[in-house]
Amino acid sequence: NMKVLLFFGLVAIALADNTRFEGEKVFRVKPVLDEHVTLIKDLAQSIEVDFWTPESAEQVTAGINVDIRVPAMYLDLVYTMLQQSEMEHEVLIEDVQGAVDGQADTRPSPRAHSYTKYNTWSVIESWINSIASSSANLVSTQSIGRTYEGRTMTLLKLGKKTSSQKPAIFLDCGIHAREWISPAFCQWFVNEALTTYGSDAQMTSLLDQMDVFVLPLFNVDGYHYTHTSNRMWRKTRSRNSGSSCVGTDPNRNFDAGWCTVGASRNPCSETYCGASPESEIEVKNVANFIRQNKSVIKAYLTIHSYSQLLLFPYSYTYNLSAHHNELMSIAEGASSALRSLYGTRYTSGPGAATIYLAAGGSDDWSYDLGVKYSFTFELRDTGRYGFLLPESQIKPTCEETMLAVKYIAAHVQKNLY
Ligand SMILES: *[C@@H]1O[C@H](CO)[C@@H](O)[C@H](O)[C@H]1NC(C)=O
Ligand SMILES: *[C@@H]1O[C@H](CO)[C@@H](O)[C@H](O)[C@H]1NC(C)=O
Ligand SMILES: [Zn+2]
Repeated sequence: NMKVLLFFGLVAIALADNTRFEGEKVFRVKPVLDEHVTLIKDLAQSIEVDFWTPESAEQVTAGINVDIRVPAMYLDLVYTMLQQSEMEHEVLIEDVQGAVDGQADTRPSPRAHSYTKYNTWSVIESWINSIASSSANLVSTQSIGRTYEGRTMTLLKLGKKTSSQKPAIFLDCGIHAREWISPAFCQWFVNEALTTYGSDAQMTSLLDQMDVFVLPLFNVDGYHYTHTSNRMWRKTRSRNSGSSCVGTDPNRNFDAGWCTVGASRNPCSETYCGASPESEIEVKNVANFIRQNKSVIKAYLTIHSYSQLLLFPYSYTYNLSAHHNELMSIAEGASSALRSLYGTRYTSGPGAATIYLAAGGSDDWSYDLGVKYSFTFELRDTGRYGFLLPESQIKPTCEETMLAVKYIAAHVQKNLY
């Protein structure tokens, strides 16, 4: 039977490609001297370490915490280096594979869609279709193009249908594949919007007056890969010419100070900026949509994890944006709204000064295009689980984040005319 053979063939390939993290640890190291910084950069050159924050060795500077995942075979080396250099450090995750296994509340994961689970792409895709048909009065969908591997990028438009064009907010999730809490938030947002429309005064007024474009999953190929092959994948899945390393960092691929700072020209780097701005089809699709509809798009919100930050332009320069004071006060108000629910503390500010320089990001690009209210969220946590945030934290994370998003939306709405 052909089908059975094909099926077992695929399973064998999937298993062969399934990266495991046995014996690996995540360290937090605290470089305070220039020698410490040099040491970390040298280490990154000579062994395989996965930077969790900052996103690459290039962005390491004295005075910031550096979270790195270290393969089992290099643990002794890293311990020796830390001791000899007297660099302060702690182990954030003792057992990475254990944390990977511990994320899901139940194993095996159920196939049904849930707002409190990390759903696979195929589950998210059917969820999009069912939402669109069950809430047709408030939701419409459109494809903004296909991914590198041919998956459809579906955009949901939420809002009361009117004959005239409405001003809009654009929200995307899942630019980076391994930041699973991010697409979970977009799904939560859609459900919250649809179920509270008509009862919650603010949501009702928002969706009456504005549309919200939601891209529930930006980097579909990468996300799929994190479910099938390598939980720690970050980039797109495009092939690079002249290198066996796969993928580009989509959040270094936008045309905003492209590849000038905080990005790499090496295709093997996790912050590879790509062959040219918008070389990634996913980036081009989103940029095209925003460009074509920029007269209606008043705000751009993008959801990442982790670190608990609410950032706004700029990241590619230390220069302050023309709307710095207004953006800062919105970010602070949104952060305190978020904190009011469970006490979760966020830090807010422009990307470059708050964390580190990084060029080619989507928020800087949309801001320079003219979308004034442009914000990047880095959701929970601050490193206890990092990208491996357990499913039990999806609900509280999404609930508190809703408050911040609604705070920003209210400000945008108030300043429409
Ligand atoms: C976005 O812009 C394109 C091109 O102008 C247009 O066809 C499309 O209707 C717009 N989409 C929305 C949802 O307004
Ligand atoms: C920062 O501001 C200075 C002074 O206005 C300007 O010359 C420079 O080009 C700006 N840098 C960037 C990267 O925009
Ligand atoms: Zn990210």
